[in-house]
Formats: sequence, C-alpha cells, structure tokens
Amino acid sequence: MPKLTFNASTFELNQYETVLDCLLRNQQSIPYACRAGMCQACLIKAVDCEATQVSKKWIKESLQQKGYTLACQWAPDTDVAAALPTIEEFSVATRLRTCEPLNEHVLRVTLEVVDKSVMFHYYPGQYVTLINPGGIARSYSVANAYEDDGFLEFHISETAQGIFTGWLFGEAKPGDVLHMRGPSGDCFYSNTSAEAFPMILAGTGTGLAPLYGIILDALTQGHSGEISLFHGGRTSDHLYYVKELESLQKKYPQFHYYPCARENSGKQKVKELQDGSIEDVVDAHLDTGVLSRTRIYLCGAPDFVNTQRKQIFMKGASAGNIHCDAFLERSVAPTGGTN
Ligand SMILES: Cc1cc2nc3c(=O)[nH]c(=O)nc-3n(C[C@H](O)[C@H](O)[C@H](O)COP(=O)(O)OP(=O)(O)OC[C@H]3O[C@@H](n4cnc5c(N)ncnc54)[C@H](O)[C@@H]3O)c2cc1C
Ligand code: FES
Repeated sequence: MPKLTFNASTFELNQYETVLDCLLRNQQSIPYACRAGMCQACLIKAVDCEATQVSKKWIKESLQQKGYTLACQWAPDTDVAAALPTIEEFSVATRLRTCEPLNEHVLRVTLEVVDKSVMFHYYPGQYVTLINPGGIARSYSVANAYEDDGFLEFHISETAQGIFTGWLFGEAKPGDVLHMRGPSGDCFYSNTSAEAFPMILAGTGTGLAPLYGIILDALTQGHSGEISLFHGGRTSDHLYYVKELESLQKKYPQFHYYPCARENSGKQKVKELQDGSIEDVVDAHLDTGVLSRTRIYLCGAPDFVNTQRKQIFMKGASAGNIHCDAFLERSVAPTGGTN
C-alpha cells in the first residue's frame, strides 16, 4: 500500500483512498467542505512529489506550479508527502463590517478587505472560500462588485447544527477577521460583443446572492436583452430583497422579477407573488423560441439546480449557456476529523 507523510507522521493509504479521507481516518485536522472539488477548502501542497493531474485540474495554474492540489481529489498510487498551506498563504484577510438580518433565516454580511493592495479580482456571482477565526472554511457567493462598493456582500442562511453558520449567527462580531480565498465558479455576466441575449436567472433561498450580483452587473453594463429573475422560497417570509427587486423592475423595463412561493402569509406579504413552485413558474414563462440563445443561471439548493438544469436543457437551452452553482453542503466524513 502507498504511504502518505503529513506533519512528520506516516499513514498507509487504502486503495483509491484520497489524501483527505486518509487524513480524516487518521484523526488529522484538515479543512474541507464540499469534498467534490468545488470549494478549494482542502488545498494542500505535494511535497517533493507530483500530485495527480485530475486532482489539480480545478485550481489555478499559478497554484499548480507551486505544487498545490486538492486533497479531496488526490488519490495517490505511490508514496507521497503533503503539507497544509498556512492560513495567510493565498488568502486575503478581511474584517467583518456588518451583519444584519434580511429575513428570519438569512443574514446580509459585509466584509472589508484589510490590505486593499492584495485583493484579487472577481466577477459578481462567483464564490469565494471564507475561513473563520476558528479555521472553518466554507464557500459563499459574492452578491456585489468590490471595485464599485469598497466591500464584499454575502447572503448567508442559517443551517441547523451548521458549524460555520452556528459561529456566524451566534458569536461573530464586527471586526472579526475572516480569511478569504478565491474566486471560483462560472456564474457571472460576460458579454464582450454587447449582444442583447435574453437571460433567465432562477434560485432558491440564498441562491439569490450570486443572481443579484449578476443582475446588477448586467444592468450596470447596459445589458438590453430581457432579464427574468425567479426567486423561490417555501413561503413569502423566506424571500428577501423584495422591495429592492421591485424598484429595480420599475427602473429597468427589461428586468422582470418573479417572486415564487406556495404561501403568501406571515410577516411579509408580496404583491406580485407567483403562486406555485419555482420550477412550475419558470416553466410557464419559458419562451422556447429564444431558449437556444438564452443565458441561464441556476443557483441554490442542489436538488433544485440539478432538476432545473435537466428540464431547461430538455426544452432546448444550449448546455454551454447554462451556468450553475449548487450550494452543496459539507459531505459527512466517513470517520472522525475536525473542520
Ligand atoms: C459553490 C457554493 C456556493 C455557496 N454559496 C452560499 C451562499 O451564498 N450563501 C449560503 O448561505 N450558503 C452558500 N453555500 C453553502 C455553504 O458553503 C455552507 O455549506 C453552508 O453555509 C453550511 O455551512 P455550515 O458550516 O454552517 O454547516 P456544516 O457544518 O457544513 O453542516 C451542514 C449540514 O450537515 C450536517 N452535518 C455536518 N456534520 C455532520 C455529521 N458529522 N453528521 C451528520 N450531519 C452532519 C449539519 O447538521 C448541517 O445540517 C454555498 C456552497 C457552495 C458549494
Ligand atoms: S474542494 Fe476539496 S473539500 Fe471542497
């Protein structure tokens, strides 16, 4: 069996076992979240050895050249050694600026960058990895343009027994330092030839965060094609930014907002609420005549994103025009391990 050396200890790797699984099985502490190659929380350095191509393909060329790879995707078949980057390596220090409720379950979190000269460029809608003061790393989508606002905005929903959100909703205070790595993902607006293609954006819960960023970016850049936003919640109380989106709709005639929920009750009555599931509402508004040239963005709960992607593709959307961010939650580790 191949061996893995990490922090002066050596462990045997099982057949096809990833470096992440081997370290967790041996009670080593390593950050991780999605275990699917998406969040980059498990970034690790191959020391005096070469990581497999497949484990490196999701990370930037500059990181690959320095020997970095993803522990959750690296299944070595020879002896290897690995080391964790320090938290400061490849991350930007930020401070918690504000943390305010958008509804009962969602916080609008803004972060300021400590040293602006080291801030990286991202497109609104892409996601970054946030690392809290306890070293817990999770992915979050950015809802605004740092270059315009001078801060980063996130929409973060409370997860039952969640480690990161437990800290954020329970203990976090302005001034707390969070490190940030990124950016990742292809959910963003780009239109180099100024085409007026239609856009459909659909999301559940905080799936609105990347969609909101993309819409503001498109409108700011003068996008003239039709832009339709479908935001789904269990009830009207689970929606947020309703007034902001209604105002945006008044200001920009090409922008159409469809809030979707099965129940319009409780604290927040929504005027134009679409009665039914978001899937049905999207389906009822699809214009199959223009679908092949429509840009589609789907974000939020993985079940919703995966089902909707298939349905829209089957109706005639082009696969290359469908951009998705499924908000995968951390997979449960097969054995112990802290993160
Ligand atoms: C690309 C991407 C973008 C994202 N963007 C956003 C965003 O903009 N906004 C947002 O709110 N979220 C977003 N997420 C989700 C986010 O990254 C976190 O998954 C989420 O906030 C939960 O983190 P947590 O640490 O609070 O929960 P975790 O601690 O990761 O727990 C998640 C769930 O698993 C359960 N669980 C954990 N460990 C165990 C165990 N050992 N046994 C049994 N159950 C367990 C918990 O009870 C909980 O229900 C995104 C995810 C991805 C992949
Ligand atoms: S990329 Fe490895 S845990 Fe997310």
